[in-house]
Amino acid sequence: MVAEVEAACRDWGFFQVINHGVPSELLDNIMAASKGFFALPAEEKRRVKRDEVNPLGYYDTEHTKNVRDWKEVLDFIVEELPGLAEPGTDEFRSFRNRWPEYPPGFREACEKYAKAVNELAFKLLELIALTLGLPAKRLNGFFKDQSSFMRLNHYPPCPSPHLALGVGRHKDAGALTILAQDDVGGLDVKRQSDGEWIRVKPIPNSYIINVGDIIQVWSNDKYESAEHRVSVNSERERFSIPFFFNPARYVTVQPLAELIDEKKSPAKFNAYNWGEFFKARKNSNFKKLEVENIQIYHFKKVV
Ligand code: OGA
Ligand code: NI
Repeated sequence: MVAEVEAACRDWGFFQVINHGVPSELLDNIMAASKGFFALPAEEKRRVKRDEVNPLGYYDTEHTKNVRDWKEVLDFIVEELPGLAEPGTDEFRSFRNRWPEYPPGFREACEKYAKAVNELAFKLLELIALTLGLPAKRLNGFFKDQSSFMRLNHYPPCPSPHLALGVGRHKDAGALTILAQDDVGGLDVKRQSDGEWIRVKPIPNSYIINVGDIIQVWSNDKYESAEHRVSVNSERERFSIPFFFNPARYVTVQPLAELIDEKKSPAKFNAYNWGEFFKARKNSNFKKLEVENIQIYHFKKVV
């Protein structure tokens, strides 16, 4: 399995897992909760709308690379920690989950699912550490006080699907993404060998895993965070649920010391603070800006 995960991370940055240990009823329950929530009237959904101070909750105006996405979402964090008040991260203390009143059981379905997927995330993290020739638990410490969050995505049918994207092309900024999708399909991954967009075929009760920017930096470019996007269609609405597995906000992200050798394989990135990076990216996702949003290649070392 380590060899298979290593090949998938290296050649694609994406893979699917089955027999993953997340009970299927937890996924069924959160999918039903998500459908129930997005079917509510707009004014009901806006009761849990995000605002400038607290970015969690419902919104339908996210931008990717300054272009508005054809979707609506609800975000919640996985661990609401008093420990978020690390130096320089005070504003994160205002992050609080907003739970809608309807449908009944929404919060419980989300929390139970998040707990199970979080366990899967740690199993995958340990596998990936092994693929890098490191002890299984080498990366776990970065996830004490983790800043992971879960997103419910709803992509409504689009009358002109060739003119819009559910999510524009992008790379996920965190460590790992664990995505559940329904049977509609629409996620396209950019193949590294030739740059073609490849549609990921939905497999019932499976998860799509992708390497994020942080693992790219930790691995010093052994693995690349793959570009992907979401296409929409005019017939069917689509639901997906990514779990963005992210380290603590105070973590300094840099190539792992064990993988660096001054002569043979020098570090390819300068260090950066995860909380600052996340904040800069998040803010830009709600505005049309004149400038490109933050990317890890801004931290590439000049050689
Ligand atoms: C994302 C994303 C894929 C999907 O939200 O970052 O890539 O299928 N979503 O919804
Ligand atoms: Ni993504």
